[in-house]
Amino acid sequence: MTIVMEMKSKQKKSEIKRMVDIHTHCLPKIDDGPKSIEESKKMLRESFSQGIEVCVATPHCVIHRQTDVTSFLEKRNRRYSELQKELEQDKPQYPKIKLGAEVYLDNDISKYDDIKNLCITDSSYMLVEVPLGVKTAMLSEWTYNLFLKGINPIIAHIDRYENWREIICDMDNEKIIYQVNASRFLSFGGRRFIKKLCRYNDSFIVSSDMHNMTSRKCNMRKAYEIAFKKYGGLADDMFGNTARKIIEN
Ligand SMILES: [Fe+2]
Repeated sequence: MTIVMEMKSKQKKSEIKRMVDIHTHCLPKIDDGPKSIEESKKMLRESFSQGIEVCVATPHCVIHRQTDVTSFLEKRNRRYSELQKELEQDKPQYPKIKLGAEVYLDNDISKYDDIKNLCITDSSYMLVEVPLGVKTAMLSEWTYNLFLKGINPIIAHIDRYENWREIICDMDNEKIIYQVNASRFLSFGGRRFIKKLCRYNDSFIVSSDMHNMTSRKCNMRKAYEIAFKKYGGLADDMFGNTARKIIEN
């Protein structure tokens, strides 16, 4: 981001009313997220109190020949229905939940016919996690094949990969969206990473990647406040506007 852009964004007043969290593990008993409906409810109440309007449930999903998309979706939808039934009794306290998945991109998943069903509800965007140290040539091929199927990948927590620069530069495709975990704004090293990332790509989305109410809880509000001080109006895009365009696409 240039200095001029930074100044312009700082001049803007915060417009964010409610945030959008597109990477969460909030469904009960499906992955390493909450172990009960009660825990899910606590996480979602906390998320709502921090200003999250829409929360996308993205349980981990690993698809190989022996694990198919249909059985994953059946389980995910069942867990969602069980939770939703409970939430409806006191609805105003919770964000609206949309469904998605955090799909492990460790092979050419475009070969599975029903893979598009793992996109975020009513959108063409799919949250994908890639193996640490993944070869970017391979990743480019796999993401290109997803594009051919009309799927737009969002690469989850780009902050986690040591070769993040290589991923961004080698992919060189403006259709790819990167997601950063909110926790990065809460540490000095994390903020330094964000500053460097902005030089390469400043249109990323920030999400919580919340898993529970202890070690990995929702931290979006605190992160947003720190981001707004540094980046002004750009923080509104990071924490809400860009993600909103995706889910309303
Ligand atoms: Fe995750």
